Amino acid sequence: MSQATPSRSIWSNRWAFILVTIGSAVGLGNIWKFSYLAGASEGSVGVFIVVYLTCVALIGLPLLMAEILIGRRGRGNPVVAMLNTAEESENSSWWALLGWVGIFGALMILSYYSVVSGWMVDYFWQSLMKGIQVDTPEKASAAFNAMMTDPWRLIRWHTVFMILVTAVIARGVIGGIEAANRIMLPLLFLILVLLTLWGAVAGDMPAALRFMFNLKPEAIKPGVVIDGMGHAFFSLSLGMGAIMAYGSYLDKQTNIGHTCVWIALAGVFIGLLSGAAIFSLTFGYGLAPAAGPGLILQTLPLAFTHMPGGRVVAVFFFLLVIFAAWTSAISLLEPFVSWLTERYGIRRTRAAWATALPVWLLGVAVCLSFNRWSEFTILDRNLFNVLDHFATRFMMPLSGLAIAIYVGWRLGKVIVVDEIRLKQRVFCLWFNVLRFVVPVGITLVFLYELVLREKLG
Ligand code: PHE
Repeated sequence: MSQATPSRSIWSNRWAFILVTIGSAVGLGNIWKFSYLAGASEGSVGVFIVVYLTCVALIGLPLLMAEILIGRRGRGNPVVAMLNTAEESENSSWWALLGWVGIFGALMILSYYSVVSGWMVDYFWQSLMKGIQVDTPEKASAAFNAMMTDPWRLIRWHTVFMILVTAVIARGVIGGIEAANRIMLPLLFLILVLLTLWGAVAGDMPAALRFMFNLKPEAIKPGVVIDGMGHAFFSLSLGMGAIMAYGSYLDKQTNIGHTCVWIALAGVFIGLLSGAAIFSLTFGYGLAPAAGPGLILQTLPLAFTHMPGGRVVAVFFFLLVIFAAWTSAISLLEPFVSWLTERYGIRRTRAAWATALPVWLLGVAVCLSFNRWSEFTILDRNLFNVLDHFATRFMMPLSGLAIAIYVGWRLGKVIVVDEIRLKQRVFCLWFNVLRFVVPVGITLVFLYELVLREKLG
C-alpha cells in the first residue's frame, strides 16, 4: 500500500520553489569550498572548473530533474517517495534504501557543515564587535589557529548555528523554510553583487579570472577530477534527499525542466561570482590563494585589514556566507524531520529538535577532531575530513548513480513522461543523457581517478 501523507504543504508558487532550491544549492559549497578546492588545485584550477561546469551540465542538471521528479511523484519524504514510486512502477521496495542513504547522509553532512558555518559566525561576530585586525599572514594564521584549537569556541558557534537552523525547520515548510529563503536569498544576492563590484574596484579582477580560467591540463593532480565532480554534486545538493524532499512539496503544474535550468544556472553563476570576488581581493592584496579549508578565513581577513572600510566589508562578507550556509543547512535537516513527522505523526517542532540533538553531538566530535582528538585519525584524516571526503567523493556520486539508474531504467517511461513535460526532442535528449551519460560519466570519473592515482602515486 502506498503510504498516504494527507495534508502536505505545497510551496506558494513556482518561484518560491526555485528560490528555496537555489537557497539549498548555494551555500558554503559555492563560497568556502569552491574557493579552497580551486585554490588547492593550483596549476590546474581551470581543469577543476571545467570538470565542475561539465559535470553540472551533463550530470547535475539531469539528476536535479530526476530527484525532483521522484519527490513530486512520491509525495512524501525521501524514504516514502522512493517507496511510493517503486510500488507504482512495480519495483522492489529495496529501492527505499536510496531514501535512507539520503536522509542519513544529509544529517552526516550537516554535522560538519554546521561546524564550518560556526567558524563563519565567529568571524562575523568578531568583525561586528571589534573588527579583525591581522596585518601579516602569520597573524592571520595565528588568529585562525587560535579558534581551531579552542574547542569551547568552536562548540559555542556550532551550537548557535544549529539552533538557527532548527528554529527555521520547526516553523514548518511555508512559515519556516520558504519564509527564511524569501528574506535571506535576495539579501545574499545583493551583498554578493556589491562585493564583486568592490572586488573589481579594490582588488585585481583580471588576475582572479586568469587564475580561475587558466587551463593547464599537464599540471593535473590526482583528486582534481573527482573533486570537480564531487563539487558539482555538493553545490547542487544532489543525492542527499534534500532536493527530493523539496520536490515533494512542488505542485503538479510546475515544469520541472525549465525550473531546473534556472536553479543550475543560478548555482553556477553565484559560485563563479563569489570565486571572482574572493580571488580578486586575494590577488589585489598580494596574497596566495592556496590555504586549504581556512582560505577565506586566513586570506580574506588580511585583505579586509588593509582595505579602506574593510571592517564593514568584512561584516557584509560573513553575513553573506552565513545566509548562504543557513539556507542550505535547513535543506539538510528537512528530509529526516519530514520522515519523522510523517512516519510517527510527531509534531514538527519536536521532530526538529530531536533530530538536531544527535547531529549537534556528532558536530561536537568534529569540533574536537581539530584539537583534543586530533591524534585520532583514519587514513591520516581527522573526523572532519573523513566525513567530508566520504560524503562528497563517494556517497553523493554513488547515490546519484543509483538515482539515474532508477529513473532512467526502472521507473518506466509513462511515469517519467507524465512528470517531465518537455517537448519531445528535449525530453529525449534529457532522458538519454540520464540513462547513458550520467551513469557512464560517474563511472569514468571514478576509474580515471584510480588510474591517475596509480600513475602519479
Ligand atoms: N549545496 C550546499 C552547498 O553548496 C550543500 C548541500 C549539500 C546542501 C547537499 C544540501 C544537500 O553548500
